[in-house]
Amino acid sequence: MCGIVGIIGDEAAAPLLLDALKRLEYRGYDSAGIATVDEAGALARCRASGKLRNLERRLGAEPLTGTTGIGHTRWATHGAPTEDNAHPHTADGVAVVHNGIIENFRALRTMLAANGATFHSETDTETIAHLLAQHLARGEDVKTALLNTLGALEGAYALAFAFAGRPDLLAAARVGSPLAIGLAEDCVMIGSDAIALAPFCDEIIYLEDGDLALVGRDGVSIYDRNGEIQSRPAMPVPMEVSVAEKGNFRHFMAKEIHEQPEVLTHTLSHYIDAASGELRADNVPIDFASVRRVSITACGTAYYAGLVARYWFESLAGLPVDLDVASEFRYRSQVLAPDELALFVSQSGETADTLACLRKCKEAGQQLAAVVNVRTSTMAREAGIVLPTLAGVEIGVASTKAFVCQLATLAAVALKAGVDRGTISPDRARTLVGELLEAPRLVAEAIRLEAVLQRTARRIAPATTALYIGRGPSFAIALEGALKLKELSYIHAEGYAAGELKHGPIALVDDNVPVIVVVPHDEFFAKTVSNMEEVAARGGRIIALTDRAGAAALGDALEEVVVMPDAPAFIAPIVSAVPMQLIAYHTAVLNGTDVDQPRNLAKSVTVE
Ligand code: M6R
Repeated sequence: MCGIVGIIGDEAAAPLLLDALKRLEYRGYDSAGIATVDEAGALARCRASGKLRNLERRLGAEPLTGTTGIGHTRWATHGAPTEDNAHPHTADGVAVVHNGIIENFRALRTMLAANGATFHSETDTETIAHLLAQHLARGEDVKTALLNTLGALEGAYALAFAFAGRPDLLAAARVGSPLAIGLAEDCVMIGSDAIALAPFCDEIIYLEDGDLALVGRDGVSIYDRNGEIQSRPAMPVPMEVSVAEKGNFRHFMAKEIHEQPEVLTHTLSHYIDAASGELRADNVPIDFASVRRVSITACGTAYYAGLVARYWFESLAGLPVDLDVASEFRYRSQVLAPDELALFVSQSGETADTLACLRKCKEAGQQLAAVVNVRTSTMAREAGIVLPTLAGVEIGVASTKAFVCQLATLAAVALKAGVDRGTISPDRARTLVGELLEAPRLVAEAIRLEAVLQRTARRIAPATTALYIGRGPSFAIALEGALKLKELSYIHAEGYAAGELKHGPIALVDDNVPVIVVVPHDEFFAKTVSNMEEVAARGGRIIALTDRAGAAALGDALEEVVVMPDAPAFIAPIVSAVPMQLIAYHTAVLNGTDVDQPRNLAKSVTVE
């Protein structure tokens, strides 16, 4: 999603803004721009469609001077990714950059045009610049004009403003979309997240919803919606975000796949005391004995983690589970009972739809728990209970290490639920904990299949459609595999419950369609094999991912059998996630797509 940066300091702003924007590239964008205010107060801007290198080239030819400025990477929502629609947008000495969506922008635009404003873009953001300019033109001071402007906006926004004639001032505001202020000895910065600010700042202040910050060279004043001064804590920059580098890997995604054994170990050690083999119950402060139902809400890959967790909560704890994608949950008229646990899964902790669901459940008085990777995120701050995944910063748009850590966390939580509810005996719990602790080792073994999976990718790369099937928890992994393939390689891929194939999708099968079957030798094995036979009978090109027992049972009749590490059924989904990632990664590399920033996608989806 759009990235925002701002700086007010002693050094030339444009190169610093460009550096900070580069650190936000991972969020996904399709145009970019910078505006600066020079010492004489002149406001100037430079914008370009496409990648930051286009903006960099422009800035080389027409440098921007001044030590105060704002910058933006735009992920298009209103209007194509053209230079005219790129931010900053300006009106009468006001420049603004925006992440979010202004829902009432059409009404505002009509009103502003009637008052004489001329628009130069199709964006919702330009209305904010005109609105603020009109308030300032009425003689309102900057703070009042900003509060009046923000008061008229409906929707979600993180905003940064610069002002002609005011090289000593920037402003920032947020509702819904995240925004932070970075503090350093020689500058104050604004940034969408800690990653943008980390190399330049010592401390970070996370703005709260409704905050307006006036940023000067010497510090920041923060006000609430009513203009009352607020105090927000400054926190040290998290170490992990400073070191978001690719190392020796060609892509962040490859690095993140290879980090999985280590980050799984970190995550598991938060939930399990490896020495005693006991669950760390204090880190899951939920009394499941008094929970009647669990609802799990998430988007994309995080939703598939929730889908695996549903099998675990049902089988280990006998708990009924409702599972929803957040964009549907937020508008359903479901009954939200107070004795239910509302569980939200999100890597970023900022996904707009998931956050809206969290707030909906909070309003209904439910107990809330958030499985999040970013501990300073809005979800982490607003949920009563935070269940952290310790995956470290994930930069690749395709979620990999965060997914396996979500699975590990949810597995530990489901085990705790089973213990609390007495649905698993202490002995069984100990066995399952022992199995869970094996996950990092087995994931490392799965990563060692990379060369084999690279060959699999060669078979998939020329295809235009691929199907992924599985049963039970492997159905969730099939869905995840299909999502990974389509988002990275742009090959049309669908995941199906294996038993569902004959109810429609089998019509797609011919000898050009790879059918990737996730089929460990578990209780569903024989059923899935029957479904594979239906595919084979129609000329489908089966690629089976199984374990040693499965491979022995399948024999050598199939085009390709990938033998995954033998994993206990409980943790098999964590292990089989890895081949899904490696197949998608290598197919994308072969097809030459942008692995870390696939087209049209954003890392943190902060708009609805
Ligand atoms: O930050 P979140 O986990 O809430 O993000 C949810 C989805 O946007 C995310 O998992 C998305 O599906 C990934 N691109 C998948 O790789």
